[in-house]
Amino acid sequence: MTLKEAIEERHSVRAFDERPIPPEVLDALRRCIDKCNKKARLNMQLVTNEPRAFSGPKAHYGHFMGCRNYIAIVGKKTDDFEERCGYYGEYLVLKAQQLGLNSCWVGLTFSKVKDAFLVRGDEKLCAVIALGYGITQGSSHKSRPIASVTKTDGSMPAWFREGVRCALLAPTALNQQRFMIELKGKKVYMSAGKGPYTKTDLGIARLHFEIGAGKDNFEWGKR
Ligand SMILES: Cc1cc2nc3c(=O)[nH]c(=O)nc-3n(C[C@H](O)[C@H](O)[C@H](O)COP(=O)(O)O)c2cc1C
Repeated sequence: MTLKEAIEERHSVRAFDERPIPPEVLDALRRCIDKCNKKARLNMQLVTNEPRAFSGPKAHYGHFMGCRNYIAIVGKKTDDFEERCGYYGEYLVLKAQQLGLNSCWVGLTFSKVKDAFLVRGDEKLCAVIALGYGITQGSSHKSRPIASVTKTDGSMPAWFREGVRCALLAPTALNQQRFMIELKGKKVYMSAGKGPYTKTDLGIARLHFEIGAGKDNFEWGKR
């Protein structure tokens, strides 16, 4: 499965069956987490066989069932912390999908279990990603129209349209999709709107855009 196929097939899944994740799948995930941590200067951690985070009232409210495995997205708080967590956390989501797992980003509807993972003095927990074998594969979310999340000078090249399509398939908190993608020449500018977790959402959608558009077709612009 390519990363683009993983984008198409991924939907949030909140109810998991009893099947344990085989050790070789966990090892593959751990290797990927280690690589991303080095690249992104994060401290993301795989937590296995830990049912407490998703058994309290918050998880019940969020309709979570049978979740015992998750990734804690932890790192040092910097200006771009949330966006970096989004970008690299979503890379792990897509890798998990390639490994046959289902997932769900969770910012609120879980309980923080103190001894399950490490958050050092200068670090922060951004969110967790629930993992497991879903009872279903989830379902497609409603997407905003392309025109409402883009700005272009004139015509829209096919690679840009494909990037935006993939960005709109990204998970966002409350499915808010509050980002703007602007094309100026060969440069693409992406910005976040206001709302909860919009900076994390921006990192997630940025990865999806890159995969959809193809990195060779454009350069990221900064403002
Ligand atoms: C940063 C972030 C935080 C989220 N927090 C929660 C949460 O606390 N509880 C929950 O049930 N879903 C949460 N979600 C999942 C979104 O509701 C979901 O991604 C969105 O509705 C789109 O659906 P899809 O992921 O199936 O495409 C979160 C998603 C993101 C990206």
